[in-house]
Amino acid sequence: MLRPVDWILLSVLALSVSSHTLRHPYELEIHYEGAPLSSPKCRSLSFRETQLHKKLKHMEVVESFGKVQYGHGNSSQVNYLQSISHDKSLLWSQALTMCGDQETWAFPVFDSIENNHAVTSSNAGQAIMSHKLLKDPDVLPPPLQITPLVSTGHSSNRVDLVFFSDGYTEEEHVQFIHDARRLALDISNNQTFSTVRPLLNFWAAFSPSNDSGIGVGGHPKDTVFGLYRDGTELRGVYYAKPETAHAACVSMGDKCDYPILLGNDPFYGGLGGRFTVTTSSEINGALVLRHELGHSIIEVGEEYDGGFAYFGVNAATNLSHPFPWAHWLSENVSSPRHERSVVPLQEYPWTILNTTSPWTVAFNSSGTYSTYVVQFSLSGIPDKDHLKISMDGIDLEWQPRKDIGVDRWHYAIARDAALRAGEHTVSFKLGAKALVGQAQLCSVEIIEFASSDEFNTTNGFIGAFPTYSDTNETTYRPTNDKCLMRTVTSPNFCEVCVEGLWLSLLERVDLIDDVQTRCHMAHSGVVQRMIDVSLVPLAQYRANDGGTGGNHEAYVVKWSTDGRELPMFENQTTIAVDNLPGSYTVEVHFITDEVRLDPYGYLTSVVDITIPGVCVV
Ligand SMILES: *[C@@H]1O[C@H](CO)[C@@H](O)[C@H](O)[C@H]1NC(C)=O
Ligand SMILES: *[C@@H]1O[C@H](CO)[C@@H](O)[C@H](O)[C@H]1NC(C)=O
Ligand SMILES: *[C@@H]1O[C@H](CO)[C@@H](O)[C@H](O)[C@H]1NC(C)=O
Ligand SMILES: *[C@@H]1O[C@H](CO)[C@@H](O)[C@H](O)[C@H]1NC(C)=O
Ligand SMILES: *[C@@H]1O[C@H](CO)[C@@H](O)[C@H](O)[C@H]1NC(C)=O
Ligand SMILES: *[C@@H]1O[C@H](CO)[C@@H](O)[C@H](O)[C@H]1NC(C)=O
Ligand SMILES: *[C@@H]1O[C@H](CO)[C@@H](O)[C@H](O)[C@H]1NC(C)=O
Ligand SMILES: *[C@@H]1O[C@H](CO)[C@@H](O)[C@H](O)[C@H]1NC(C)=O
Ligand SMILES: *[C@@H]1O[C@H](CO)[C@@H](O)[C@H](O)[C@H]1NC(C)=O
Ligand SMILES: *[C@@H]1O[C@H](CO)[C@@H](O)[C@H](O)[C@H]1NC(C)=O
Repeated sequence: MLRPVDWILLSVLALSVSSHTLRHPYELEIHYEGAPLSSPKCRSLSFRETQLHKKLKHMEVVESFGKVQYGHGNSSQVNYLQSISHDKSLLWSQALTMCGDQETWAFPVFDSIENNHAVTSSNAGQAIMSHKLLKDPDVLPPPLQITPLVSTGHSSNRVDLVFFSDGYTEEEHVQFIHDARRLALDISNNQTFSTVRPLLNFWAAFSPSNDSGIGVGGHPKDTVFGLYRDGTELRGVYYAKPETAHAACVSMGDKCDYPILLGNDPFYGGLGGRFTVTTSSEINGALVLRHELGHSIIEVGEEYDGGFAYFGVNAATNLSHPFPWAHWLSENVSSPRHERSVVPLQEYPWTILNTTSPWTVAFNSSGTYSTYVVQFSLSGIPDKDHLKISMDGIDLEWQPRKDIGVDRWHYAIARDAALRAGEHTVSFKLGAKALVGQAQLCSVEIIEFASSDEFNTTNGFIGAFPTYSDTNETTYRPTNDKCLMRTVTSPNFCEVCVEGLWLSLLERVDLIDDVQTRCHMAHSGVVQRMIDVSLVPLAQYRANDGGTGGNHEAYVVKWSTDGRELPMFENQTTIAVDNLPGSYTVEVHFITDEVRLDPYGYLTSVVDITIPGVCVV
């Protein structure tokens, strides 16, 4: 018989070896206007506990920057700084350096660490938080009713994505859960984030709005975060209450890494930055969401032409050695060739079409390419008879996407013919008076491609494809049109982005969820010490849902004691050892086809286990 006292001792031991209950770092987040070093104007500030950051092994503070960008125009350009550290006082001194003497702070401060002025929320799952508000306007975290959508593990060792409701009334709570669940499953069930799903949790955090729907014409409605469109065009959706969004996210403690403001609106629209904004559009909600999350989670820029930000794992400025994704190139070369293609026309007209005269644009072709594609996006035109698109007078025979209605969609019409040298025109002619005011041409682009000896069109080919920025600067991307960072209608990232995704997530997630030890008496009466290691459910531990998308995955688990390998335990997650004090080490290595290069060792996790006593019978 094992005496109860030993079980108590054991459970204490078990806690002490758990890799994640030990020390969690703190996170300071400051939203500010201006430059970080020349006394910026602080807008809001938060302080909370967060999950591990593997860079803290080598650094005292890990910082990341970005935009909050809660409205159109310069007055509303706000930046954020996120600093993660084990050293609380270091973070506080950073807050003081940035925002000045605490006495002068005239902005909301959300502090979930110092509980002395705690406002306790009765909502399940919501962290206790204190809210030290020093001046009006009064910003309190909205009351949140939290529903798990996809749960794979404890938030202390997962990356958490949270949908916050905007423009959903109390009566629309069920609709909100339905919309949030649909979006979460769309991007994690069988595509986009499906292979990394075991590293993620998704939550729906409901707070009722007084008004249903989101604002237009630059005017928010009476909603939780004040989402609105600038005009009526199906483009950006902004938020009027960034402090409320900040408060809402912090009030969830470590359950909110990527806040998503979900607007109750059936059409295309969204925004990137600290708060991802999307809508409940059946066709476009997930499309906007995954693209914006790509920016924030993988920390990559665009892959489409005409943008201004090209950075991260999927962008190269030149072809010379060492080439960033050399390990993914389809051809075994150290520096790839330039896949010859060009963009002779690129326009964002955002124009309302009329029936009087077509919208027309001219461009010149060099005549040195073999094929081309006409890409454009439209909204407000449900029927093919209502729009004629022609190139040099020839009808391109545009067909609307099935069931698109008046929502926006991106089209690509590929032509297997060369453009002759000289001038060409494309025109968009509206054919239905009733659609005037709603029919809009958003973007138009022509891309020309060289023949197959200079441009490889094979599906899945990974090379160096030129992307041309708004100022026609060239960067390179890995695939022609596979990646959703370029082709927003594609549901998946390219291989290079997926590798970046794994590495970004595994920077914040340890492959070992927990380690426990216990006593066990075998039938023979021999008492043994058992060590159980719980792994993040990847490879053979994946649940039936999700899946590896056909990729090979494996965990290699190695055990040792006092530096001596224990090969008989290889790949076991529960081992039985002699009932003696001792120290053990478990090293877990995760292998997936989706990661070829792991420069920081994020796919390996090591835990030392000390067993100070014996199980007493
Ligand atoms: C933006 O800034 C420019 C000059 O910096 C100024 O002329 C313009 O009025 C500003 N616009 C808004 C909306 O603040
Ligand atoms: C994923 O599932 C959705 C909905 O069930 C389906 O429309 C889509 O084709 C599937 N995608 C893949 C890659 O299987
Ligand atoms: C709803 O209206 C009430 C009364 O005007 C107000 O106190 C509350 O803040 C509003 N709620 C939201 C989410 O805007
Ligand atoms: C080429 O790109 C690499 C990064 O991929 C960069 O470090 C290097 O400075 C670039 N070289 C030139 C000449 O721009
Ligand atoms: C295109 O790439 C594929 C895959 O690497 C290769 O098999 C094929 O030969 C290439 N095509 C040309 C025309 O180079
Ligand atoms: C790639 O090329 C290098 C040298 O050019 C060679 O050593 C290596 O074996 C090649 N790899 C494959 C898979 O062909
Ligand atoms: C119709 O649209 C064309 C192209 O955008 C524009 O030039 C013209 O001014 C518009 N006409 C009317 C009456 O709005
Ligand atoms: C096309 O090139 C011709 C000759 O250089 C020039 O006159 C014309 O303005 C160009 N057209 C456009 C749309 O740039
Ligand atoms: C953009 O640059 C490419 C080459 O770098 C050039 O061929 C092309 O004509 C340029 N396009 C425009 C619109 O200037
Ligand atoms: C452990 O798993 C790895 C990956 O599946 C495999 O290569 C290795 O042979 C396994 N070792 C044992 C002892 O089964």
